[in-house]
Amino acid sequence: MPLVVREITRETPDIVSIRMQNADGSPLPAWQPGAHVDVQLITRHERQYSLCGDPADTASYRIAVRREELSRGGSHYIHAFLRDGSTVWVRPPRNLFELGEAPAYLLLAAGIGVTPILAMGRHLASTGADWRMVVAVRERDGVAFADEIAALGERARVHVSGEHGRLDLAAVLGAIAPGTDVYACGPAGFTDALLALAPTLPEGSGIHLERFEPRKREFGPSEPFTATAARSGVTVEVPATRSLRETLQGAGVAVSGSCLRGVCGSCAIPVLDGAVEHRDSLTVDDDARVIYTCVSRARAGSSLVLDV
Ligand code: FES
Repeated sequence: MPLVVREITRETPDIVSIRMQNADGSPLPAWQPGAHVDVQLITRHERQYSLCGDPADTASYRIAVRREELSRGGSHYIHAFLRDGSTVWVRPPRNLFELGEAPAYLLLAAGIGVTPILAMGRHLASTGADWRMVVAVRERDGVAFADEIAALGERARVHVSGEHGRLDLAAVLGAIAPGTDVYACGPAGFTDALLALAPTLPEGSGIHLERFEPRKREFGPSEPFTATAARSGVTVEVPATRSLRETLQGAGVAVSGSCLRGVCGSCAIPVLDGAVEHRDSLTVDDDARVIYTCVSRARAGSSLVLDV
């Protein structure tokens, strides 16, 4: 969808929020907290951004973009050149970070990770759910949407590590009741630290993560493997040097994709048979029956049968 930028607001020295609308102001596809959109710029850079506005506002989408030191182009362009009236191309929202049903919720964000967490907090505050939210930032002027977080009341708090030391995640998790679901978004160091604490969670609790950087992990050398697209009736040999997604596409099996780094989820295909080496940054359960085809592969010695 071509959308027009209608408002750019500097939220912190490094973060701007951007409101986008149809040129004629007509309604946009609906979304729920946790959803993101793929945004393509005139430079052809495409990135995923969580929606951080109000789902009840059907006329506009709001995203926030941090200036990245090592920008691959998108962040730099947005901060330097995007203006009111610019056109961006946006795919309809997808939600891979959906709020499930739980007796209680703990929402955790670090830095720009506040974007999906803010939408979740606003939603939970309107439902009477049992929830808490902690937003960690390095410096006080790094808090994006400070007024909106404050408006959520005492269940939402900001932790400034430059003033109070690093957020003690073990203590925060240690205080939750059994059954509390944890939703977290932030840089890799933050989400990895949370995952390391997963075994300490009380019974019935789980961690749901939204990442914007791939997890840093080491894998052995890639091996060739066989994959069968069951519904298409196509079997391919995936060479060591190509991804499953590329190989399927080369054989005429359409597979979507966006980040090509295992963080956005758009290339997911259900797995009917075979063992997957999950090289993506989305899978929490090693036995998950889905494969993110841009980076994940069959485990050594296994073949895959896919529901595509
Ligand atoms: S294209 Fe983003 S996870 Fe594969």
